[in-house]
Parts: sequence; C-alpha cells; structure tokens
Amino acid sequence: MRTYLVTGGAGFIGSNYIHYMFDRYDNDIRIINVDALTYAGNLENLSDIEKRDNYTFVKADICDREAIEKIFAENEIDRVVHFAAESHVDRSIRNPEVFVQTNVLGTQVMLNCAKAAWEQEDGSFKPDKKFLHVSTDEVYGSLDEGDTYFYETTPYDPHSPYSASKASSDMVVKAYIDTYGFPANITNCSNNYGAYQFPEKLIPLIINNTLQGKKLPVYGDGKNVRDWLYVMDHAKAIDMVCEKGKIGEKYNIGGHNEKQNIEIIKIIIDTIAEMLPDSDPRKAHVNYDLITYVTDRKGHDRRYAIAPDKIKKEIGWEPETMFADGIKLTIQWYFAHQDWMQHVTSGDYQKYYEEMYQ
Ligand code: NAD
Ligand code: DAU
Repeated sequence: MRTYLVTGGAGFIGSNYIHYMFDRYDNDIRIINVDALTYAGNLENLSDIEKRDNYTFVKADICDREAIEKIFAENEIDRVVHFAAESHVDRSIRNPEVFVQTNVLGTQVMLNCAKAAWEQEDGSFKPDKKFLHVSTDEVYGSLDEGDTYFYETTPYDPHSPYSASKASSDMVVKAYIDTYGFPANITNCSNNYGAYQFPEKLIPLIINNTLQGKKLPVYGDGKNVRDWLYVMDHAKAIDMVCEKGKIGEKYNIGGHNEKQNIEIIKIIIDTIAEMLPDSDPRKAHVNYDLITYVTDRKGHDRRYAIAPDKIKKEIGWEPETMFADGIKLTIQWYFAHQDWMQHVTSGDYQKYYEEMYQ
C-alpha cells in the first residue's frame, strides 16, 4: 500500500485532492496530511474523511524540520504531494515575508527531509519514490491579449511577491533534480475554482457577496484574463503526473478556459439569479448594480493562458469539466454550505479544530 504525504491538505486544492484520492483509491492508499492550519487551513473540509483508518492528520509547519523529519522517520513515505503555501497575491503585496518563509524555505525543508529519507548509500534514490511540487502559472509573468500562451519552456518572469516566491521554490526543486537526480516533478497550474475555496479569492468572494447583497469589487477595468480550471480536474492531473510523469519533468496544467474577470462576475450573478426561487427575498438584490469598480491591484498581471499540450501528449490528461457545468456545481456547493462560509468568515473553524483535536 502506498503512503502519500500531502502538505497543505486542509486548504482548498489539498482538501479536494484528498477527497479525489480516497474516491479513486479507497483503502488501497494511506494519506498523511501535514498542515499548519493557517487562516486558510480548515479541517472542516475533511470532516467526512478524518475517521478513516488510512488517513492521519499532523498539525505541523513545513518549516519545522524536526517535525517533518519525524514523519519521515515513522513512516515509509512513497509520494510527497506538496501543496502547502501562502497562496493569495493580495496578501503577498501587503506582507511578503511569510511568503518567502513558507513557500521557499518550507519547500526546501520538505525537499531535504525527502532526500534524506529516500537517498541510498550510492547516492541513487529508492525506487518508486516521487515528490510532486504543486506550482502556479503565475511564475511565467503576464501575457498581452492575443494568441500567446505559457509553455513549459516560457522563461520565468514573476511579478508579485507571491509568484516570485513560487518561482523561487520551483528553482529549488529544479536544483535538487539537476544536482542530486532527485525524483521530482513540478506542475504549473492555472486558476482553480470549486468547493472549499477561501472567500478571499475572486469566485467564492463574488458568490458570497452576491448572496449577501454586498458590493462586488472589480479591480481596475475588470478585463484581466485568467484561465479557470475546475479543481477536481486539477486533482486528477496531479495524480496522473505522480503516476506517469517522467522524473525531472515539469508540466503545465490549464483549463482552455480564458475569461475576463468581469465576465466571470456577470456569469455568477446570472447563475445565482437563475437558481434562486422567486420566493427567496435575496433575489431582489441579485443584479449587476452590485458591481463596483475599485482601485487596481498593484502590479496586476493582465492575462494568464496555459498551453496544456505536453501533459495531454505525454500523460493523456485533459480538462474534463466545462466551465458552464463547473461554475453551477460550485455555486450549488456554496448554496448548500452556507454554514461553512459562516465558519470560515467568523474564525469558528479554529474552535472546530480545538474541539476535534484538543
Ligand atoms: P490555500 O491557501 O487554500 O491552502 C494552503 C494550505 O497550506 C492551508 O491549508 C494552510 O494551512 C497550509 N499552510 C500554509 N502555510 C503552511 C506552513 N508553513 N506549513 C504547513 N501548512 C501550511 O491554497 P490553495 O489555493 O489550495 O493552493 C495550494 C497550492 O496550489 C499552493 O502551493 C498554490 O501555490 C498552488 N496553486 C494554487 C492555485 C489556485 O488557483 N488556488 C493554482 C495553481 C497553483
Ligand atoms: O493563476 C494561478 C493563481 O490563481 C494561483 O497561483 C493563486 O494561488 C490563486 O490565488 C490565483 O491567483 P489570482 O490572483 O489570479 O486569483 P484571485 O482570485 O485573487 O484573483 C483573480 C482575478 O480577479 C485577478 O485578476 C484579480 C481579480 N480580483 C480579485 C479579487 C479577490 C478582483 O477583481 N476583485 C477581487 O476582489
């Protein structure tokens, strides 16, 4: 039975990935989830999983070398799937330091502990081990409007403290691959959307504010473009790269789904208006009057667009969920989980953790 060490599994993509993996492999795998439970980590995302015998949660910071070494010493880890990071661009503009700490130094700790556990006396690595570093398309910088795309060969040109820290972490992983022959892959993915996303990010923030009749803040002219991918499609891609990715390679992952921010916001308003019954009093305020243009994000990247050709050709992965379907599923999820939203916005999930794990 393979043992996966997942970092940041209580966050948005990590918790979706853990759900995906148990749905797919059930009792044929073991998952150890290490997460520091920052403001973005929420064990409520995994409440249906925590009683499984083949799942363990460890509350630890990835920068804490001793804690990570202990996990490797006590378990034969086969796969490291490394999500843990500070992930929000706006926060990185206000407070870059923790981004360098967690994203760069934390990644280095993870690499060092995996290397120490997997390296054999002759310098080769134990067979069938893999470290998958989950990264972002933001490392490539910004594209103009038109027919250009990010390829794996596109030079790195990060602009925000967040993307600079992710680019640095990619370089540290690459250094381990190039120097030690370390068995790793790097994946660079576009914007994810789906269940369990913290409402500081565009899509959940707009859903939440629309339901509450609050203003919908649009940065700049609203014409910045992102390439949106349904989070479960990302989870599947990560699993496929873990199993089929050639050691040392990097793979771009994207949705073939470019949209301007203002389009996304209007789609969400229209979808919520369609879903709410006429009898629901909230329906009266669900309209475009909520849209409010605000000061632009500093250094705001104009357009991201991924060419996922390599992962399709070499691994056979493609995005499966059409945006029209994925956004409905996402809005339905937030409709059905108003209590979740209430807890994450009020900090109640900290209490949840204390009660669950004392
Ligand atoms: P998230 O902010 O929702 O979750 C991050 C998780 O990491 C949280 O559970 C948090 O508690 C944990 N964490 C933070 N610092 C930690 C530390 N020092 N030690 C241990 N755990 C820590 O992030 P997300 O959106 O799920 O992103 C996950 C990964 O995917 C990140 O590496 C991010 O760069 C990358 N990524 C995200 C997107 C996206 O659209 N969200 C797209 C491409 C790549
Ligand atoms: O591209 C992948 C990246 O996508 C990930 O690496 C990051 O972790 C993830 O946070 C995301 O970064 P973005 O900055 O693209 O996502 P965000 O949801 O913060 O913003 C999406 C777009 O919407 C961006 O152009 C800024 C804009 N925006 C965002 C917010 C929160 C607004 O116009 N208003 C808002 O209130």
